[in-house]
Amino acid sequence: DRQPIVAIDGPAGAGKSTVARQVAKSLGLLYLDTGAMYRALTWLVLESGIRVDDEPSIAELASRSQIQLSTGDDPQITTRVWINDHDVTFAIRSLEVTAMVSAIAAQPYVRQELVKQQQRWGLKGSIVAEGRDIGTHVFPDAELKIFLTASVHERAQRRQQDLKNQQQPNVSLVQLEQDIQERDTRDSTRVVAPLQKAADAILIETDGLGIAEVTARIVSLYHQKL
Ligand code: C5P
Repeated sequence: DRQPIVAIDGPAGAGKSTVARQVAKSLGLLYLDTGAMYRALTWLVLESGIRVDDEPSIAELASRSQIQLSTGDDPQITTRVWINDHDVTFAIRSLEVTAMVSAIAAQPYVRQELVKQQQRWGLKGSIVAEGRDIGTHVFPDAELKIFLTASVHERAQRRQQDLKNQQQPNVSLVQLEQDIQERDTRDSTRVVAPLQKAADAILIETDGLGIAEVTARIVSLYHQKL
């Protein structure tokens, strides 16, 4: 007996974080950025000098690490993130973490640990959860499932703008397209919980659509269903 859950999945750069946060805000629900959790653990792995393929050590690290998330009012910061009391809000968006996160998120034990935590947060519902496997694995019984996507080109352009806004070093569009393509492939071909549209998810193609438009569509779908 819980409140509703909205699941938003999709590939890198489809605008999930911004949209999910807006949807949560306008519906008065909690916002859960699951990618931030995989990123935080990845940051800690890099910081600890553990090799990315050292699965047992990463598993051990995952099991004794504490991740905290909070959503504030700053529109530039979708989620504040701490791991073992380190504030990694900005560090988890670095190119190093972004390049490594898929390899760590593919490890079965890592997923098991983080999914357990996500499900604990969703126990009472009243949440918008965003990631790659929310509708398929984390909350398969979510009342509303959205699969957000956009062309690789559009997503690379958005990422370039994000980097610019965050005053990060400039990366070429070609490089960004290649990174996105690689991450898509890794996320969709992994054995455990690959990125996949749930059968009952509603597909929204966001090429040419603004944040406000996509948000309004999802909010209206929510009101239709619930
Ligand atoms: O959404 P974001 O780009 O922050 O996610 C970073 C990475 O974390 C993804 O590329 C994916 O490898 C992993 N991830 C995942 N499952 C989720 C959310 C993110 O595997 N539910």
